[in-house]
Amino acid sequence: MSNLLSDIYKERNAIPDTYRITRIDQKEYLAGGTIKTWEGESQEVLSPVCIKDADTLVQEVIGSYPMLTEKESLEILEYAVKAYDNGKGAWPVMSVEERIKCIHHFVLQMKEKRSQVVNLLMWEIGKKLADAEKEFDRTVEYIEATVDALKELDRISSRFIFEKGIFAQVRRAPLGVVLCMGPFNYPLNETFTTLIPSIIMGNTAILKPAKYGVLLLAPLLEAFRDSFPPGVVNTIYGDGKVIISPLMASGKIDVFAFIGSAFVANLIEKQHPKPNRLKSVYGLGAKNPAVILEDADIDLAVKECVTGSLSFNGQRCTALKILFVHQNIADEFIGKFSHAVSNLKIGMPWDEGVSITPLPEANKIQYMLDYVNDAVEKGAKVVNQNGGLSLKTVFFPAVLYPVNDRMKIYEEEQFGPVIPVVPFRDISIPITYIEESTVGQQASIFGKDDALISKLIDPMVNQVCRVNINSQCQRGPDTFPFTGRKDSAEGTLSVSDALRVFSIRTLVAAKDTDLNKDILSRITKERKSKFLTTDYIF
Ligand code: G3H
Repeated sequence: MSNLLSDIYKERNAIPDTYRITRIDQKEYLAGGTIKTWEGESQEVLSPVCIKDADTLVQEVIGSYPMLTEKESLEILEYAVKAYDNGKGAWPVMSVEERIKCIHHFVLQMKEKRSQVVNLLMWEIGKKLADAEKEFDRTVEYIEATVDALKELDRISSRFIFEKGIFAQVRRAPLGVVLCMGPFNYPLNETFTTLIPSIIMGNTAILKPAKYGVLLLAPLLEAFRDSFPPGVVNTIYGDGKVIISPLMASGKIDVFAFIGSAFVANLIEKQHPKPNRLKSVYGLGAKNPAVILEDADIDLAVKECVTGSLSFNGQRCTALKILFVHQNIADEFIGKFSHAVSNLKIGMPWDEGVSITPLPEANKIQYMLDYVNDAVEKGAKVVNQNGGLSLKTVFFPAVLYPVNDRMKIYEEEQFGPVIPVVPFRDISIPITYIEESTVGQQASIFGKDDALISKLIDPMVNQVCRVNINSQCQRGPDTFPFTGRKDSAEGTLSVSDALRVFSIRTLVAAKDTDLNKDILSRITKERKSKFLTTDYIF
């Protein structure tokens, strides 16, 4: 057992008081405005954090959550369908201003749960403290920005247009029942970047957390219950095959919002019997490359590539997952990059200055080792000190060099702490890589020559959806469009785009006659409709 790794695990009593956890056996789920208690089968939650006990290291059991069955799943669906009530429900016909008040109420209650949710982010998915806090705060900011964006959208729509003898008011209306499934790497933030815009636009929702990061949503159940009319937000837990298949097969889901793998998204989507009724909103896989040109500022490229490839242990869809480095600077880059990676502190999520933390997915360590072994067998080397060392749930990042197209990691998305570095002399190598890739989210270019950079930007912007100059790939700021081509995404999820994705343009139109003008005027002046209104939201 390597000391570097064995020393990071601690006895239970060495965990700082603030971050200790008491087992949470969640039996509750939110259905139709009631927090129901589940007495059936449950799923134990194993933390990626191991506890040292004499000579053994054991993954801590931190609780359990309900394994609902098809029966509860279909009941929950009916609550969401009833709350929408073909668009006649209290929520879809509520004015935008009233819906915003409900969201404000929710945010106030959510903020009170910050420390609980942050602690659970550390224990359930191993996210380091600073990133867990950032995830929580960024989510609150996202909700507040969503409210502002909706006000703006509503203001723009609060006037009539007159065209070719027809008066019309065009607004965005909800779509129906949304099934929201979030990912384990951002179980709060990414889940809420689909849930919040979908409900604020008047849809009703069924929320299914990812396999890891389930308990952290439990502290928010009461806030959901107390902030929205019954059935607007419902939660569901269990095995996807058992609880998601019947939802889709019912044909009553109108929008499927999913962040995860394309394979799972497609498997679920095709169970819906009415493909034209179903709208899909996806954030899927990516293999974002960095292209480090001969004249790049190497220190800057190293810094950005370390955070770009290893923030949250590389478990971000936006992570840099392959680095192409010009042959003439490859030695210098590799030397500095592997040195920086080897200096990263590995430890528990709450440890001061930690970067690398335990991985939550079962078998992930073996999966990482397989990539390393495959690449080494085919001629690459692990170039950084301690690269590829592992113990229980931790894996010290491995920098692989030189990587070529025969190695599995050249094409496959590793979603973890293994970084392949490919030397190139001809710029067509990374360009062809991007063109032939099955995914197309983002890319980074590092260099100084504006002529060369501009030559790369033009082909790249038609292959990926964000080209980053001298900086890592990332989603934020959240007001920027976040999307991808090919198997990387469907729909765009910035703050304002998400409002559009979860709604449809709908209008009320009337020919220019005295009778119609009279009707429109009375409806708006006497505030008889929630849709047809010229009210301005301040
Ligand atoms: O996993 C995908 C996330 O949306 C990435 O967001 O780039 O801000 O970490 P981030």
